[in-house]
This record gives sequence, structure tokens and C-alpha cells, in this order.
Amino acid sequence: MLEIKNLSARYDAVISALEKLDFEVPEGRIVAVLGPNGAGKSTLLKAVAGMLPFEQGEICEGRVIFDRLLLNGKHPATITRRGIALVQDGRQCFRNLTVGENLKAASFQTPKGNAERLKLVLAYFPILEEFFDRPAGLMSGGQLQMLVIGMALMLQPKLLMLDEPSLGLSPVMVQAVFEVVERLHRDLGMSVVVAEQTVPRLMEIAHDIYVLSRGRLALHAPPHDVSQERLHDLYLS
Ligand SMILES: Nc1ncnc2c1ncn2[C@@H]1O[C@H](COP(=O)(O)OP(=O)(O)OP(=O)(O)O)[C@@H](O)[C@H]1O
Ligand SMILES: [Mg+2]
Repeated sequence: MLEIKNLSARYDAVISALEKLDFEVPEGRIVAVLGPNGAGKSTLLKAVAGMLPFEQGEICEGRVIFDRLLLNGKHPATITRRGIALVQDGRQCFRNLTVGENLKAASFQTPKGNAERLKLVLAYFPILEEFFDRPAGLMSGGQLQMLVIGMALMLQPKLLMLDEPSLGLSPVMVQAVFEVVERLHRDLGMSVVVAEQTVPRLMEIAHDIYVLSRGRLALHAPPHDVSQERLHDLYLS
């Protein structure tokens, strides 16, 4: 479904963030992208979503192909319409708007089937129904994470990419977030890419693991081949 070949990316024309990376997401798979701070996880997700130019970044080598379409140089809105949604880190939403308004604003580009989609999102995240008419800024970190995932689902993506969804959440909320990821995959057959530092729960649900280190691929293996000890060594090396 998503095929990345020999991808190199940089910022400000000099800072190399990804080096000759090969990466693949087969249809209906959960793929984990792991690695320490600065490894290139967010850069990889932004390269796929067409977001690098907004940070003086660029793809300088390689190809990003999704559903047989070359995404290099495409505008983020075009990429979204093709079926890719990125939930960036930082839980970005309109904090002064209500939860309902945020969900509707998220899907303004894809108005078709909105009402059914909203029903589905509220079924996945009952908390969003509870807060529907209240400002998003009143929600906790975990509830906001549910909101931004809900906003991405309003786009009806085939591929959902989550950047460090567990950051700063309590263990119970982390469990809840990954439970939703697993259900999206199980019920809707959605492909999901999750970038994280290390999260044991993610290791349990992922079909495939990529570990990045300083912009390069340090390891690509099925989860049962990736022990915490091995990750620890990779992170320290
Ligand atoms: N907007 C930017 N401008 C310049 N350099 C950047 C920018 N964003 C990231 N970088 C650099 O690119 C490299 C990869 O960063 P990236 O944010 O992709 O790593 P990461 O794996 O997501 O790290 P973290 O776990 O801290 O989120 C780092 O060296 C970082 O300093
Ligand atoms: Mg990051």
C-alpha cells in the first residue's frame, strides 16, 4: 500500500534527517516506527504526508508511493484526499472550538458521508460525545489524543499515521489509545503506522517493526524478533 524507496530528507538544505530509507506498509497492517529522540520518526511521517516544505524541509532523494501514486511533491491536501491521515505530535486542534466543531472542521475537505462518519467516530470515542458541545481546551491530554485521532478518522483514511500518541499519557490512557488502534485495524481493516520511542503495548499489536537511528534504518523485523534488550542496545549505540 505504502512503499518508500531510498528516501533521504533534510531540513534547511543541510540538516540530514533521513538517509536512504526503505519502508513499507502492506494493506491492513499495523507498523511501528521506533527510535530515540532525533532518529527521524516524525520526519518520515511528515515526508509521507507532504508536510516537510512547511518546515523548510524536503525530500532530496527517493520515492514515496501510495496506492501506485507517486506522492513526492504533492500537496498535503491531495495526499489526504488519496487516503492518508497524519496525527502529528502535540495534539493540535482548535482549543477554543467545541469538540463537535473540531470534528466537523477536520472533515471540511471530505464532506461526503460526514454524518455516518461522525457516528462511527463517536461510537469509537464515547468521551467525544460527552464533550461534544464543550471547548476542546477543557479536555485532558488523553481525551485530546482521542479527539485528534477522531479528527483524523473524519477524513476516512485508508492509512492512519500517529506520531507519538502516548507521549505524556498515564499507562491507562496509553492502553486505551492502543486498544482503539487495534480496533480500527480489526473492524475497519485500516492500515496504521505508529511512531513511538518504546511502548510494550505497541510491540504486542504491531505486525512489523522498523527501528530508526540517526535517520537510518537500524532494524526491520517482526515484533517477536525485537526484544526490549535489543532495542535498548540499539538506542544506546
Ligand atoms: N523543523 C526542523 N528544522 C530543522 N531540523 C529539524 C526539524 N525537525 C527535525 N529536525 C532534525 O531532524 C532530525 C530528525 O528529527 P525528527 O523530529 O524526525 O526525529 P524523531 O525521531 O521524531 O524525534 P523525537 O522522538 O524527539 O520526536 C533531528 O536531527 C532533528 O534535529
Ligand atoms: Mg518526533
